Amino acid sequence: MWWRDAVLYQIYVRSFADANGDGHGDLPGIRSKLDYLEWLGVDAIWLTPIHPSPNADWGYDVSDFHGVHPDYGTLDDLDALVADAGARGLKVVLDLVPNHTSSEHPWFSEPAKRDWYVWADEPNNWTSTFGGSAWTKHAEVGRYYLHNFLPEQPDLNWWNEGVREEFEETLRFWFDRGIAGFRIDVAHALIKDAELRDNPSVGKAKDRREDRVYNMNRPEVHEIYRRWRTIAREYDPERVLIGETWVPSLAELATYFGDDDELQLPMIFPFTLADLDAAEQRQIVEGAEQMFPEDAWPVWCGSNHDIVRFPTRWCGGDEAKIRCALMVLLGLRGTPILYYGDELGMEQVEIPEDEQLDTAHSRDGARTPMPWARRADHEWWIRHGDLTRNVEDMRADESSTLSFTRRLLELRRADPELRQGAYTSVVGDPGLWTWRRGDGCVVAVNLSDRPRSVRGLQGAIRLDTGLARTGEDATGTLLLAPWEGAVVGG
Ligand code: GLC
Repeated sequence: MWWRDAVLYQIYVRSFADANGDGHGDLPGIRSKLDYLEWLGVDAIWLTPIHPSPNADWGYDVSDFHGVHPDYGTLDDLDALVADAGARGLKVVLDLVPNHTSSEHPWFSEPAKRDWYVWADEPNNWTSTFGGSAWTKHAEVGRYYLHNFLPEQPDLNWWNEGVREEFEETLRFWFDRGIAGFRIDVAHALIKDAELRDNPSVGKAKDRREDRVYNMNRPEVHEIYRRWRTIAREYDPERVLIGETWVPSLAELATYFGDDDELQLPMIFPFTLADLDAAEQRQIVEGAEQMFPEDAWPVWCGSNHDIVRFPTRWCGGDEAKIRCALMVLLGLRGTPILYYGDELGMEQVEIPEDEQLDTAHSRDGARTPMPWARRADHEWWIRHGDLTRNVEDMRADESSTLSFTRRLLELRRADPELRQGAYTSVVGDPGLWTWRRGDGCVVAVNLSDRPRSVRGLQGAIRLDTGLARTGEDATGTLLLAPWEGAVVGG
């Protein structure tokens, strides 16, 4: 169960590292940054979709599930990346998009594969996640096809056994090449109601008038993951299945673990979307601790390519808050996922209206190029943000947030309690969030604007967010400044 000990690092491939200077990140670029990733101390990288795609939704509209997009390189480049990463003990996880294909995928125009997609004579009331009806009339076929996202992303019909077998083969194709697992796009939505019933109406919001109960989160989706998990288990080490599970209820999310025979890591979006607030986040973390099956393992993240980066959304760019957030993410029981740049406190970038590229849903500001140095070496497909926080400068500065993140990762790696120890809540004053990991390790984070005291501690500070108190004895009472955190004892 290597994923339980791992810290994952999500790479938005188009924006991470550009080896051939054409303005798009690519696989050789990632390979050239393995030194950095090894130095940082992450264990696995998750690459956003690398497959051929017309890019209506920037790679999430796949036209060949077995290929590599020419902007990113070749299959040989991927094999070389997997080999080089493996030599450094780093695993490579890919992004699988099984809910839909690109409308340019050959299957969509193949008459023999009509039943691989979802059709209706008349649209029901389902709306697309990106707005408007989820149905578009196909001129040639004369019927409507379903697209829970863009019209260029027709939904696959997961009731069809041919679709299931095809994707099971795709899993094997990549697992055989040494891919360590998949992040599964829209994992909760593969199966649609067999009768395509109307969703219940709720309110009159412009973008959302129905409760999405029939086009998402259907009970039959679990059968698919039981089959996938069986395949994942055929490999050594076992392959990991990470779900993009937008499921608001923790009790329902808990069902995605199955009887330890479905997804190992269904993502917990209520946590990601909560504020950086001790009471709010603690309630979700403890809810997951209670509601998830006993042997289940949570996964935590603050940023990704679809939402506003956490250093902006949670922290308003404030360095002390960013470090507290990192301490929360890396100090909880579970597998953390860092989004590229989180380790620097990289912020959301304001993209002017006329430069926006994400026609689907304006998410460009979370997808800007990785700031490797103070100056950008060339033009990229999308503008850079402020380069003050950049790898080169922050790596040279032992007091930077990057150095802090690295030391936190180092501590995690060195301390089995911090990686695997049980989570036990410790009662404290408002705004203070303190928890024990295992027997001896305590994480205390003051998410408030007032000083707070943590009582009853044993041992010394092993790492503090200000990087100034390491080694200080914390036995008895530890006073934490506003937005200060510390790992103690262990
Ligand atoms: C997921 C992806 C998002 C994409 C959508 C449709 O939510 O993370 O980027 O637009 O699925 O594939």
